[in-house]
Amino acid sequence: MRVLVTGTAGFIGFHLARRLLADGHEVVGIDALTDYYDVDLKRARRDRLLAHPAFSDHVVRLEDGDAVMAIARAAAPDAIAHLAAQAGVRHSLNDPRAYLDANVVGTFNVMEAARDQRVGHLLVASSSSVYGGGKDTPFRETARADHPLSIYAATKKAGEELTHAYSHLWALPTTVARFFTVYGPWGRPDMALSLFVDAILRGRPITVYGHGDMERDFTYVDDLVEALVRLLAAPPELGRPLEGVGDSLSPTAPWRVVNIGPGHPIRLGDFVAAIERALGQAATQDLQPIQPGESRVTFANADLLEALTGFRPGTPLDEGVTAFCDWRRHYYGEV
Ligand SMILES: NC(=O)c1ccc[n+]([C@@H]2O[C@H](COP(=O)([O-])OP(=O)(O)OC[C@H]3O[C@@H](n4cnc5c(N)ncnc54)[C@H](O)[C@@H]3O)[C@@H](O)[C@H]2O)c1
Repeated sequence: MRVLVTGTAGFIGFHLARRLLADGHEVVGIDALTDYYDVDLKRARRDRLLAHPAFSDHVVRLEDGDAVMAIARAAAPDAIAHLAAQAGVRHSLNDPRAYLDANVVGTFNVMEAARDQRVGHLLVASSSSVYGGGKDTPFRETARADHPLSIYAATKKAGEELTHAYSHLWALPTTVARFFTVYGPWGRPDMALSLFVDAILRGRPITVYGHGDMERDFTYVDDLVEALVRLLAAPPELGRPLEGVGDSLSPTAPWRVVNIGPGHPIRLGDFVAAIERALGQAATQDLQPIQPGESRVTFANADLLEALTGFRPGTPLDEGVTAFCDWRRHYYGEV
């Protein structure tokens, strides 16, 4: 297959592209290398992908609809995996417009290209944050998710809705995948794991929100990519829901939403303990209240994912955290 992947210099897009290349596919990437976090890290990921002969990319903003259309026309992809986004819940309170631009206008431009190309399958990254403060755990894809707590979540939900309308109008097979806190090597420097490891190694206190009682359904990046690759091979078909699992297949479009998470939420305090074990160093914790826009708990029901793909994320937290710490030492030359 030839797959157009947006966000290839990003944490997850990089891993997905690497896996697709390893599986023998051709990958055309789009990534604007935005400066939301360390651009050198994005360049380093990109350089690794560019070393592969079946990878090419375009440093372009998704907001540039003409450019996105031209790239899609030249690539004529069999499938599109749309992962580029302005990520981060906290930052969305400071710079909401960046989220509207990248996640709504950007997704619209990707959909226009998908429609033009009549791609066989469109995979769109969404987020557990669309469940907002949902108390009915574990979160099922069929549960209402229309009370977002942050601008980030609202724009990811808006992107989901846009893809549904396109899928309905132009019969575009579309899978929206809701990711649950993804972590692992090459991870984002703005996320807790990176921030915590950095502070602990420098002997600084770590800021732990929600007094350590928040829970996250941490998903190891290789598990996430495995799920994505399997989902890519299972495009939704209108009128053919899976029986017995509460399929989220739309009644009016070849469109479904699928959680990707282990269904095993971990208290932030226990997450910190796993990092301490991996580093062999104790953390000094500065316990703070939960931040505006954050959900207290994320908890995936992964039954639909398992029914569709035969797979459920299962990498043990200690293993994943150790892999991140090993990568980090190596990457920053601290070995
Ligand atoms: N990492 C997680 O825990 C997590 C959880 C839920 C959902 N997600 C979703 O997964 C996807 C990938 O996230 P990630 O963690 O790899 O984030 P990331 O920030 O590492 O990657 C996103 C990439 O998109 C690029 N990008 C941003 N805005 C762009 C624009 N307007 N035009 C072109 N490129 C642009 C960035 O340069 C970046 O390389 C996103 O859609 C995100 O919302 C991630």
